[in-house]
Amino acid sequence: MSKDSEAPPTAYPSTSLKKQDQEGTKGLDSLLEPGANWTQLEFWDDEGKAPYLKDYEGRGLLKDKAVLITGGDSGIGRSVAILMAREGADITFVYLPEEEEDAKWTKSQIEKAGRQAQTLALDITKEENCKKAVDAHIEKFKKLSVLVNNSAMQEICQDFREIDLSVVEKTFRTNVLSMFAMTKFALPLMKRGSSIVNSCSVAAYMGNPQLVDYSSTKGAIATFTRSLAQQQAPNGIRVNAVAPGIIWTPLQPATKNNPPEAMDSLGVQEAPLQRPGMPIEVATAYVLLASPLGSYFTGEVIHGTGGIEMQG
Ligand SMILES: NC(=O)c1ccc[n+]([C@@H]2O[C@H](COP(=O)([O-])OP(=O)(O)OC[C@H]3O[C@@H](n4cnc5c(N)ncnc54)[C@H](O)[C@@H]3O)[C@@H](O)[C@H]2O)c1
Repeated sequence: MSKDSEAPPTAYPSTSLKKQDQEGTKGLDSLLEPGANWTQLEFWDDEGKAPYLKDYEGRGLLKDKAVLITGGDSGIGRSVAILMAREGADITFVYLPEEEEDAKWTKSQIEKAGRQAQTLALDITKEENCKKAVDAHIEKFKKLSVLVNNSAMQEICQDFREIDLSVVEKTFRTNVLSMFAMTKFALPLMKRGSSIVNSCSVAAYMGNPQLVDYSSTKGAIATFTRSLAQQQAPNGIRVNAVAPGIIWTPLQPATKNNPPEAMDSLGVQEAPLQRPGMPIEVATAYVLLASPLGSYFTGEVIHGTGGIEMQG
């Protein structure tokens, strides 16, 4: 599909995302240009001519629940935090200390929804910090209804012969081992009706030649989800995942070795919808899976890819 072909209309920013580089940083939502959308859904007029945006309104699907999210300050995790707060949940979220600015804004949005927010600047590659996060959540909210394992990192490596094993280890620690640790500490506190939602990726299914290590972690997350779901089904705890396609979040421009030009047409060539997704467009799947709307879903991976066909 040519980048110059006419893109379908959309109320979200679709093409010509401005060149930008957040490389070497952990990535901030506040620096994205154009800004991403975490809170508004796209609607259409009856003629199918004019898309417009409208705020997501909760309807009590998670009323008085308590949710713990890793990487909840920005991107997809931010949108999940805000939507779940609008559905009635109090939220604890974990983030990297460098992302304080994003965390403050997300906290303010949770509070604006009338719910309580607890923010924890912790590096979850350390097992003791995963324990700290779960302990602090229980201390404040006294229950753990939903765990969202969402934090991740990725670094591009074009040639496997040059792959840096310390980066591979860090990627697995951040994306996979933290999920084991968070889940190990969380599960004993979760009751029948609780659920876990993990962030997988299109890369788990398609592979990605530049991200062999990251893609492998996402494959592990899909298998983790299916295996744990079978183990925990008798306990009434559902375990699912969402596999986003190309979503407009700080992960993209902050990725090490990702050239700023790559942002210019992000998602346009790859996705049949000819644009990157906005965080809210996949965050809704987390709400589905975590809430009673998803009561018959377990061991599932929902793909939100703008039409990119998954293999498997
Ligand atoms: N953006 C995409 O195109 C895309 C596509 C597929 C999957 N995903 C997945 O979605 C999830 C969310 O990513 P995003 O795109 O919203 O990017 P993001 O950069 O906004 O979120 C990543 C989060 O991970 C957190 N994090 C990273 N390392 C951490 C550490 N050591 N300790 C604590 N927190 C840490 C960061 O604080 C940040 O909040 C990730 O699992 C990612 O793999 C994203």
